[in-house]
Amino acid sequence: MSLYAIGDLHLHYQSELKAPAQLRDRVWKNHEEKFRKNCQKLLTEDDTLVLVGDHSWGKNLSECERDLQYICELPGRKVLTRGNHDMFWDVKKTRHLNELYQPRLTFLQDSYAVYRDYALVGTKGFTFEGSFYLDRWGRIVGWDEEAQVHAKKLVDRELERLRKSFELAKADGFGKYIMFLHYPPTSILEEKSGFTDMAEEYGAEQVIYAHSHGESRFHDSIQGEYRGRIYHLASGDYLRWKPLKVL
Ligand SMILES: [Fe+2]
Ligand SMILES: [Fe+2]
Repeated sequence: MSLYAIGDLHLHYQSELKAPAQLRDRVWKNHEEKFRKNCQKLLTEDDTLVLVGDHSWGKNLSECERDLQYICELPGRKVLTRGNHDMFWDVKKTRHLNELYQPRLTFLQDSYAVYRDYALVGTKGFTFEGSFYLDRWGRIVGWDEEAQVHAKKLVDRELERLRKSFELAKADGFGKYIMFLHYPPTSILEEKSGFTDMAEEYGAEQVIYAHSHGESRFHDSIQGEYRGRIYHLASGDYLRWKPLKVL
């Protein structure tokens, strides 16, 4: 019985592919097949796979049905968290999605999932991504401050959702946590954030995030050990479509 994670599958069986890099980049060629084969090799029906957002390019649920079917057919239990591109999944629709897909898929939002004696907590998260102003050597010399103020509001809302997830698990007696975000825990301007603080406050052992795909983005945030927790980037192309073994 193991716990695995990955993010940014960006499936598009029924929808328009919105990222041209997915066509150009070799790592994305037939990535659905590569990932399916890796899952079949690594996972058993007793395992849990957490998919940390950006599941589908579909604009609504009917454009995502085949993508979700593909996920259903992967081995093991699947727990999904929201990504910024998951237009089919408005927070208010979480209950409906769970009614449609449980027990094959669990849509995790404002709640937690159980893995052994761990609570799996998570939310989409958010990080400020610019615009940044660069000098001629490519160094950051400024940024869009209005966008930064707006980003703080989104970060605060996501922190509230994450706290709810932790508190529900804590109230049910859990003391061991793995924390899942779609966005990286810190922006490229930060060393720490509300998300790293919360991971420390509750003692989450590991923080798993995705969203940063394409080589130039792989080192946008924390990786490895930081203040007693382990941080992992789990975007699919970074992992070469091999799910990350978390526990
Ligand atoms: Fe993505
Ligand atoms: Fe994303």
